[in-house]
Amino acid sequence: MSHSVTVSGQDGAFPGAPDRSVLESALRANRWLPHACSQGTCGTCKIRVLCGEVDHGRPDETILSEAERASGLTLACQATPRTDLTVAPLNDVPPDGPRHPLRDHAGTVLELADIARCTRRLVVELDEPMEFSAGQYAELIVPGSVVARQYSMANPPSESRRLEFHIKRVDGGLATEGWIFGSLRPGDRIGLRGPLGQFALVRPQEEPAILVGGGTGLAPLKSIVRHALSNDLVPSIDLYHGGRGQADLYDVDFFRALEAADPRFRYHPVLSEEQWDGATGVVTDAVLDDFASCKGRSAYLCGPPAMVTAAVKALKRRRMAPRLIFKEEFTVGS
Ligand code: FES
Repeated sequence: MSHSVTVSGQDGAFPGAPDRSVLESALRANRWLPHACSQGTCGTCKIRVLCGEVDHGRPDETILSEAERASGLTLACQATPRTDLTVAPLNDVPPDGPRHPLRDHAGTVLELADIARCTRRLVVELDEPMEFSAGQYAELIVPGSVVARQYSMANPPSESRRLEFHIKRVDGGLATEGWIFGSLRPGDRIGLRGPLGQFALVRPQEEPAILVGGGTGLAPLKSIVRHALSNDLVPSIDLYHGGRGQADLYDVDFFRALEAADPRFRYHPVLSEEQWDGATGVVTDAVLDDFASCKGRSAYLCGPPAMVTAAVKALKRRRMAPRLIFKEEFTVGS
């Protein structure tokens, strides 16, 4: 039996299925709730239950404490409705964020290629197009299981039937070693759901953008670069990609060709553990070296939490306005 869910301040209710998180029900009904990881690890989706009862699921105590639960808070991405609900998000709904309904999709693997150390490009042709914003992600369903892993689309939204993902292998990982780096072959059928996430460049902006990606954190940034340049959404883009060595860099020729063809775009690969004729050191230090001031610029950051935290600190030190810093932290899915 489905329960109705009302979001305080938003018109109308939507159906909340007892076996689906409040967040998933909202996104499937094309209603927006703030969220990022959708797996209970970031806290972005915290909501206050104003009326009704939820099953909290099994939230991590460090993300949603017992005291918070007792005070009526829950995680929209983990909680399921037990009764009709009225809820209020703790975080603001980004006014310029993406707005696309979450849908189940199926498609066929077109391409599966090694592109860097322990990194593969997976290209999937969907049966039906998926609308999304540049920067968002989808969940790939591991066949024969209910396990899903999250990967950002690296293609622009204009390619809504041909999705590109960059996938890092995790030793012993069910989805990576056991499937994407194991049994998966071109021509195989694949299931996924999306889009998800609010890390996105959606509207035109006056501020030049600095993009910083670590490892496969490059994926959503590639989507943003291609989308923003072809739709003239930003005056200019500086893209920084950090890796340990040259073996970790990929799509170098693509970005160098883009840099040569488009004066609005500059590409800065940075290596932290190998000497070469390019930039070396920590990727965020390379940004600091290049910009005496970041005032009046925006930033899009995607990578491991430590890199994102360091980049936010560095950009604020260079006087970038916090409201212009957009970030996606990822934990490598196994
Ligand atoms: Fe729910 Fe991250 S904890 S979106």
